[in-house]
Amino acid sequence: MFPTGFVWGAATSAYQIEGGLSADGRGTSIWDSFCRQEGRIVGGDHAETAIDHYNRYRDDVKLMADLGLTAYRFSVSWPRIQPDGSGAYNAKGLDFYKRLVDELLSYGIDPWLTLYHWDLPQALEDAGGWPARDTSKRFADFAATVHAELSDRVRNWSTVNEPWCSAFLGYASGEHAPGRREPAAALRAAHHLNLAHGLAVQAMRAQNAGSQIGGCVNLYPVTPATASEADQDAARRIDGLQNRFFLDALLKGAYPEDVLADLSHISDMSFIQDGDLAAIGAPLDMLLVNYYSRFTVSGAPGGAVSAAAAPTDSGSPWIGSEHVGFVNAGRPVTAMGWEVDDSGLYETLRRLADEYPRVPLYISENGAAYDDVFGEDGTVHDPDRVAYIEAHLRTCHAAIESGVPLQGYFAWSLMDNFEWAWGYGKRFGLVYVDYETQARTMKSSALWYADTIRHGGLLGRAQ
Ligand code: FCB
Repeated sequence: MFPTGFVWGAATSAYQIEGGLSADGRGTSIWDSFCRQEGRIVGGDHAETAIDHYNRYRDDVKLMADLGLTAYRFSVSWPRIQPDGSGAYNAKGLDFYKRLVDELLSYGIDPWLTLYHWDLPQALEDAGGWPARDTSKRFADFAATVHAELSDRVRNWSTVNEPWCSAFLGYASGEHAPGRREPAAALRAAHHLNLAHGLAVQAMRAQNAGSQIGGCVNLYPVTPATASEADQDAARRIDGLQNRFFLDALLKGAYPEDVLADLSHISDMSFIQDGDLAAIGAPLDMLLVNYYSRFTVSGAPGGAVSAAAAPTDSGSPWIGSEHVGFVNAGRPVTAMGWEVDDSGLYETLRRLADEYPRVPLYISENGAAYDDVFGEDGTVHDPDRVAYIEAHLRTCHAAIESGVPLQGYFAWSLMDNFEWAWGYGKRFGLVYVDYETQARTMKSSALWYADTIRHGGLLGRAQ
């Protein structure tokens, strides 16, 4: 049984579900442009309609209510609310989120709002994108406006979803929008995404609305493939770039010295200005953690099996550590090729509790893609996903028992959706979506999750 008050949620993001890319005055985002470029998205998929949540949000909220969710994590689309990322706001765009939130509240579902889940207004990219410091300030203004408009009905706020991805997949490997491959720019982007978080927190706090505000990071324990010095150095480097660069900044107000040293040939870091880290490291009400898998790495020449899986032609996101190989440690994998390892979640949570200032924690994303089949009897049987979520929830429970201040769990994702560069081929949903008809069908994992929520805990080993 989980503690009373434990938050049982599911998550989505605007770009992956909404569609309606030109509805009601929405501006263009970097993902709109990226999807139009040949070879960027598997199968040439795009999010023009996505799963039509913009029009079907009422039905989708009803689904959440049927599942018994106590909370729903979603993101707002910046270009829908502020088409050019600066200047005029679009009342119709804001209104969509007000209606969505009111619908959630009418069912007693707590809205958890993420301000940025990767859909930067194209006009801001044209002005330099995240490598430009001004983008952080634009984001703080945007955050202040959205917060002023919605904090009367939304209590839980997070700033930037997974800054690592925006910075290093967007500007180093180029597998995400805007598709640039510029290591030095990627590093500036990483800092400016952290700064955007810090400035947005400041701007929202200044409104004294009593909101709970957090940042959101994607964490992976990193294990050396062997005890060799080269592999241990590889693990230190990848852990540094993936985890500590963001955690230390947000929770300790400092960048790790060893990471700055690893990157010193790429940049002199002069983009870090006085006061930045104080803003970035200001106390938070919570930390949102996305967890999917563990990395096993090798630093030996020739030790590399594969770089992190990218669907299309791309460079390395691991700036300054391009030599590091990612080794398959032999665990079962999901349809993404990601190894299933719930013990990595335990390690991640313990590490936060042991090495960082105490802050309430939430798993804001966890889940798995599998090749789901819509059965002839109209059901979708996904035992692998049930087993994945069951194991990770069991681990969450163990972490809580060990004293970790974990207070909630959001499954990724509520519904199948547009999985970025992978398009629609990777299904993460608890709910199956027929992309032709937009029909939604609860998979067995959804029914299992609903039972779990109703019970307030795990009912026994998944079959
Ligand atoms: C995370 C993203 C989310 C989704 C999952 C599978 O990195 O935040 O949008 O794509 O991975």
